[in-house]
Amino acid sequence: MRAAAGGSGGCVSACVWFAPGRANLMGEHTDYNTGFVLPFALAQGVTATAVARPDRLLVLRSKQVPDEPVTVSPDSLAPGSVAGWAAYPAGVAWALREAGYRVPGASIDIDSDLPVGAGVASSAALECSVALALCGLAGAQVARRDLAAIAKRAENEFVGAPTGIIDQAAALLCRAGHAMLLDCGTMDITHVPFRPGRDGMTALVIDTRVPHALVSGEYGRRRSECEQATRLLGVPSLGSVADAALAGRLADPVLRRRVRHVVTDSARARAIAAALAAEADQADQAATAQETYRFIGRLLTQAHLSLRDDLEISWPEADIAVDAAIAAGAYGARMLGGGFGGSVLALVPAQRLPAARAALTEAFAQRSWTPPEFLDAVPSAAARRIA
Ligand code: GLA
Repeated sequence: MRAAAGGSGGCVSACVWFAPGRANLMGEHTDYNTGFVLPFALAQGVTATAVARPDRLLVLRSKQVPDEPVTVSPDSLAPGSVAGWAAYPAGVAWALREAGYRVPGASIDIDSDLPVGAGVASSAALECSVALALCGLAGAQVARRDLAAIAKRAENEFVGAPTGIIDQAAALLCRAGHAMLLDCGTMDITHVPFRPGRDGMTALVIDTRVPHALVSGEYGRRRSECEQATRLLGVPSLGSVADAALAGRLADPVLRRRVRHVVTDSARARAIAAALAAEADQADQAATAQETYRFIGRLLTQAHLSLRDDLEISWPEADIAVDAAIAAGAYGARMLGGGFGGSVLALVPAQRLPAARAALTEAFAQRSWTPPEFLDAVPSAAARRIA
């Protein structure tokens, strides 16, 4: 038993924990290949308002799901025993228990201002807010990297989505005003200053309103293809490959494209982190900032082409949103997250923002698509107790 003495962790009445969603500047489908990712936490996220229960039950409610509360006993949880949204919090209780922590009885009320299915990691925000709440109530001190691994295990083994570590790591480890370069092989982290708002820029998340679902087959298929390519190339992981030309050794053109995406996206994540770090060291930041954002924008657009043509996970609304944003003055744009639905991230000079939003809305209207929604992605702090 590694948990500290039980009780309510200093919460006499209900306490509130918050975990943010994330955007990702660069590195898609690189996390499970142990490459690099460069996410930042959003201001929006999930709150878990929790109070201990003496009966050792977990009673889970969500403001976004107006059903009856879901009641489970932490001791009898097993993968497959809970379905729907409650599988995420129940999975966290299961994974904490599996890791040797005491899981207290608790009533947990969930609320969220994150769009679901928009590719901004609402699932991980839900998992991480509940993980912190359960640890807080139990008085358990768990290192954040370990907690990220526990939340990921909940998603992989309890919910059944074969995702990597980026989302949980971003929710638990990002810093306000920074993007986080994460080496998913070693879990080494470098925080690099990223404050688009300060420099007259907006990191705009454009929700294309096509929901994306990780439990559907395509995400898992990409993962299997990458595993197959790894075996055929005889490398420890695609993240360890430095030169995309190695892909040329593969006979299958599809696998060659998958490898090229992973290797180049991981390199782009490092290149952007290096550019942001170098800019932060400049004496005259105002002069160099715009160059840095233009550079990042070009890499975003390159990444979109790689995601569209090499990984083949884009969707029509994302392609149109990327084109419309760039035509309206964005420095660059790309689809965000696992693919086949969700959002686009565009880097837009603030003075171009109204025109860009209008152009995007118009491009969708012309095609009779559901209007896009917009979110100003402000690099924000990681998960924490807020009350
Ligand atoms: C989803 C998964 C992540 C990651 C991204 C793609 O968000 O949850 O682990 O693989 O897709 O980069």
